[in-house]
Amino acid sequence: MRAAKRTSETGPEPSALDTIYSRRAVRSYKPDVLDEPTIRKLLDAAVHAPTAIHEEPWEFVVIQDKAALKRLSDRAKTLAGEEAAKHRDLLKAPGASSTNAHPASMLADPNFNIFYNAGTLIVICGKPMSQFVTADCWLAAENLMLAARAMGLGTCCIGLAMPVLNTAEVKQELGIPADVTAVAPIIVGVPSGPTAPVPRKAPEILRWVR
Ligand SMILES: Cc1cc2nc3c(=O)[nH]c(=O)nc-3n(C[C@H](O)[C@H](O)[C@H](O)COP(=O)(O)O)c2cc1C
Repeated sequence: MRAAKRTSETGPEPSALDTIYSRRAVRSYKPDVLDEPTIRKLLDAAVHAPTAIHEEPWEFVVIQDKAALKRLSDRAKTLAGEEAAKHRDLLKAPGASSTNAHPASMLADPNFNIFYNAGTLIVICGKPMSQFVTADCWLAAENLMLAARAMGLGTCCIGLAMPVLNTAEVKQELGIPADVTAVAPIIVGVPSGPTAPVPRKAPEILRWVR
């Protein structure tokens, strides 16, 4: 499916600030699969991010195969479950945070798909270049997410997928060279409805020297 075209009914293009303030981590999608021109538009927006020493260290993997996404989700949950088990004692320690975005029950639920059944996963990968590769890839990720928002699409970073995407086995399957790192996994799709905003704390200014 092509991203919704803006018409006189949908109103004018949103401003950059409207797009920033209305972007949400979208966790519920319509089954539509995005078409190639839409994906290419998102990737083009991504590569227009600032890039240190003009290295452009990014490469992309696009996965739109439902079965492949489900397999990846299952493997990510298994890996996260094993990690959680290793750290269970630490989490029980007095003063340890009880905040856990992905509780064990969720990881054990066979119906929980870490990609929320989105039709597309775009993995932004970083080539081994300078110390700024990770920063560049995340800037590209934000560009991609804001462009998607401006095109009427939803996105969500899926940090839970990072460990599995960086295993030798999955890298080989996805054509990611051994020395390239999967940095930012982003799901994209047509939101199934509106997503409520998550409030932010006011910026903490440590010092304003003037
Ligand atoms: C690096 C990173 C990793 C994230 N990983 C996940 C994830 O694995 N699963 C998920 O549902 N949301 C994930 N999120 C989304 C955040 O939970 C979300 O951005 C945050 O709650 C604020 O909500 P908002 O983006 O709608 O403002 C991730 C966000 C970032 C920046």
